[in-house]
Amino acid sequence: MFRRALGKTLQLAGKRDHQLALKCGPSVSASARERPRDSSSTAVNRDKIKTMDDLGGPSFLTSLYWLFGKRYFNITHQMQIDHSKIYGPLWKSKYGPLVIVNVATAELIEQVLRQEGRHPIRTDMPHWRTYREIRKHAYGPLTEIGAEWQRIRSILNPRMLKPKHVSSYTNAINEVVSDFIEKVAWLRATTGNGVMVHDVAGELYKFAFEGISSVLFETRMGCLNEVVPEETQKFIFSVGEMFRLSPIVVLFPKSLWPYMPFWKHFVAVWDHLFKVADDLVQKKMAEIQEKVKQGQPIEGEYLTHLLVSEQMSPTEVLGSITELLLAGVDTTSNTISWALYHLAREPEIQQRLYEEVISVCPGDKVTSSEDISKMPWLKAVVRETLRLYPVVPGNARVIADNEIVVGGHLFPKNTLFHLCHYAVSYDEKIFPEPQVFSPQRWLRGEKQIGQHPFGSVPFGFGIRACLGRRLAELEMYLLLSRLIKHYEVRPDPTGKTVKPITRTLLVPATPIDLQFIDRQSEQKTSAREQAAA
Ligand code: HEM
Repeated sequence: MFRRALGKTLQLAGKRDHQLALKCGPSVSASARERPRDSSSTAVNRDKIKTMDDLGGPSFLTSLYWLFGKRYFNITHQMQIDHSKIYGPLWKSKYGPLVIVNVATAELIEQVLRQEGRHPIRTDMPHWRTYREIRKHAYGPLTEIGAEWQRIRSILNPRMLKPKHVSSYTNAINEVVSDFIEKVAWLRATTGNGVMVHDVAGELYKFAFEGISSVLFETRMGCLNEVVPEETQKFIFSVGEMFRLSPIVVLFPKSLWPYMPFWKHFVAVWDHLFKVADDLVQKKMAEIQEKVKQGQPIEGEYLTHLLVSEQMSPTEVLGSITELLLAGVDTTSNTISWALYHLAREPEIQQRLYEEVISVCPGDKVTSSEDISKMPWLKAVVRETLRLYPVVPGNARVIADNEIVVGGHLFPKNTLFHLCHYAVSYDEKIFPEPQVFSPQRWLRGEKQIGQHPFGSVPFGFGIRACLGRRLAELEMYLLLSRLIKHYEVRPDPTGKTVKPITRTLLVPATPIDLQFIDRQSEQKTSAREQAAA
């Protein structure tokens, strides 16, 4: 999703203003002499304060060497950890004229985020915004900035974040969950020798796309059918291509883009994403018009509400809906994949989850949103998964309102901060034995040594935090609880381990293959065997 929010891409993106501001470096600019509004800045003795020049960090050449010579291009999340060991928790990286300030402790990340201002900016996303400008599309919540961004969020937020609205999506999602469970059965039978599901993340991608579409568009896309519709396949392909190309495009100055062969492709994949969303919006508008003509009441959820309330123009609705669709697929699907991967490798953790689910939802009872509040282990499993695999391993903020002080250094306005969430998630001072998958650490009442509120913030922070958080959590809880009730998940018998890579988002480097053992037929078989014995 959101490239700038995102790790590697972020590090390579740039803005001329930033560059100028950042070049100002050590000497405090004229505007910087104004008294800053933020409290942390006001307390500082300006004569003694350190500046950006006092920060260490790799030069442009060293950065290139790390990315391409040492092959960190795909594992920039690991580069966060390795660079923080060399340069300390606050360092600057140079990418040509662009300077990025990396922040790699929970305390320092908190300092940045608490000074993010009224209209926080992740980064300016020049390539995503340029595409919208040339096609005259509206910006959505990911790409918009300033007061306009706030207006869009105030329209989009209620039905995405208010618990009563979000829980109303339970039935729609549960239908998709039922289909996914059937799809697993079909995959095992057809391609998995009766037990295996290959490329679980790929299958879950289709689940997530179907789930988000059923909520946003109140329609089913057929992603879980045996044969996935061609349009949907193309959408999935286009999202992948867009994320793949994003970090490449921003490596080059904007003036060169039209001459780059990949720019045409980048525009073409975006065109397809907008086309799919546009078709769905048009279809919904036609349905609404038909109902109005027939004098029927207009009922519906997200998209219907947006269109009927007329707080946004249809072009704006399209801009926002496309970005929601984009943001809402890889994120949940990858998180569920990692959760299953670890549950398969840790049978005790899985057994505890199974027992929790059947105690709250015995027999055929389907998990509801109220049931989830009685499943602390399920929530802890997801929390721990997001600690180990934060989908957005490195977020960003440009503090545009004021110069700010972070870690005793004064930074000019428009400094680009890279928040190294991945490195902090593995900080052993906050999370002892950080490599261990331990949902236990998230249970209330457990001894939580040194837990810091900014130790793991997988959905971001503040008013610019994830818009889809509640929906994503609902989807993940409903699916995981029912899958584990139905199937026992076991690892790939070949013993293959899967590592993450950063491809804008943190994703599995290789396919995750898992065994899904049907619990009911397993029980029947063992009962038969016992009877026979
Ligand atoms: C496991 C699932 C997800 C994770 C871990 C996640 C994480 C994030 C993070 C870290 C951000 C940046 C927040 C910040 O800058 O402070 C973000 C932004 C965003 N997310 Fe999510 N996300 C998830 C699922 C979703 C879903 C399902 C949707 C859509 C329904 C969604 C829509 C968005 C949007 C629109 C933004 C941009 C918000 C803004 O800039 O105002 N996300 N997400």
